[in-house]
Amino acid sequence: MNRVLACLFGSTLLVFLFLATAVQPVPAQQEQPTHIFHRLIPAGDTCATCHKAIYAQWKASPHAANGVECTVCHGETTAPDFAGKPGLSTCESCHSDQVAQLKTDSFMKGKTCVSCHQAHVFVEHKKADSAGQ
Ligand code: HEC
Ligand code: HEC
Ligand code: HEC
Ligand code: HEC
Repeated sequence: MNRVLACLFGSTLLVFLFLATAVQPVPAQQEQPTHIFHRLIPAGDTCATCHKAIYAQWKASPHAANGVECTVCHGETTAPDFAGKPGLSTCESCHSDQVAQLKTDSFMKGKTCVSCHQAHVFVEHKKADSAGQ
C-alpha cells in the first residue's frame, strides 16, 4: 500500500517537474551571460578604438557617469568568462528590484531589460529620435 502511494507520489512529482521546466519561456537576454572569445587587443587600443558608436552611447549614459565601465558588465576581454552579451545576472547585481519585477510581473513576460532600454544608452526610455544616431 505504502509502496503504491510512494510510486504515485513519485510519478506525480516527475510530471510536475517536467511541466515546470517545459513551460519556461526562453528569454532573449539569457539568465547567464553568453561567452565569446574576443581577439587580443593591440597595445595602445582601447574599447573606443573599435567600438566607436557603442562607446559614444555609453559615454553619454548614466552608467559612464557612475563609473560602470565596459568591463564591469562584459568582464575583461582576455578572461575566459568574457561576456559577449551580459545576462540578467549582470544587471541583477546592481538593479535587483527591476530583475525581480521582470521575473515575476506578468506584464514583463517574454521581455528582457533590452526590450525597453536600448543597450549602452540605458536611459529610462528608448528614445525614438536616437534611432539614427
Ligand atoms: C582592435 C579592435 C577592437 C578593440 C580594441 C576592442 N574590440 Fe571588441 N570586438 C572587436 C571585433 C572585430 C568584434 C567582433 C567579434 C570578434 O571578432 O571577436 C568585437 C566584439 C565585441 C563584443 C561582442 C561580441 C558579441 O557577442 O557580439 C563585445 C562585448 C566587445 N567586443 C567588447 C569590447 C570591450 C569591452 C573592449 C575594450 C576592453 C573591446 N571590445 C575592444 C574589435 C575590438
Ligand atoms: C550596463 C552594462 C553594459 C555596459 C557598461 C556595456 N555594455 Fe556592451 N552590452 C551590454 C548588453 C546587455 C549587451 C547585449 C545587448 C543585446 O542583447 O541586445 C551588450 C552588447 C555589446 C556588444 C555586442 C552587441 C552590439 O551591440 O554590437 C558590444 C560590441 C558591446 N556590448 C561593447 C561594449 C563596449 C565597448 C562598452 C563600453 C564602451 C560596453 N559594451 C559597455 C551591456 C553593457
Ligand atoms: C555595477 C553596477 C551596475 C550594473 C552592473 C548595471 N547598472 Fe544600470 N545603473 C547603475 C547606476 C549606478 C546607474 C545610475 C543611477 C541610477 O539610476 O540608479 C544606472 C542606471 C541605469 C539605467 C537608467 C536609469 C535612469 O535613471 O535613467 C538603466 C535603464 C539601467 N541602469 C539598466 C541596466 C541594465 C539593463 C543592466 C544590465 C545589462 C545594468 N543597468 C547594469 C549601475 C549598474
Ligand atoms: C516593459 C518595459 C521595461 C522593461 C522590460 C524594463 N524596464 Fe526598466 N524602466 C522602464 C520604464 C518605462 C522606466 C521609467 C519609469 C519608471 O520609473 O518606472 C524604467 C526605469 C528603470 C530604471 C530607473 C529607476 C526606476 O526604477 O525608475 C532602471 C535602473 C531600470 N529601469 C532598469 C531595468 C532593468 C535592469 C531591467 C531588466 C531587469 C528593466 N529595467 C526592464 C521600462 C522597462
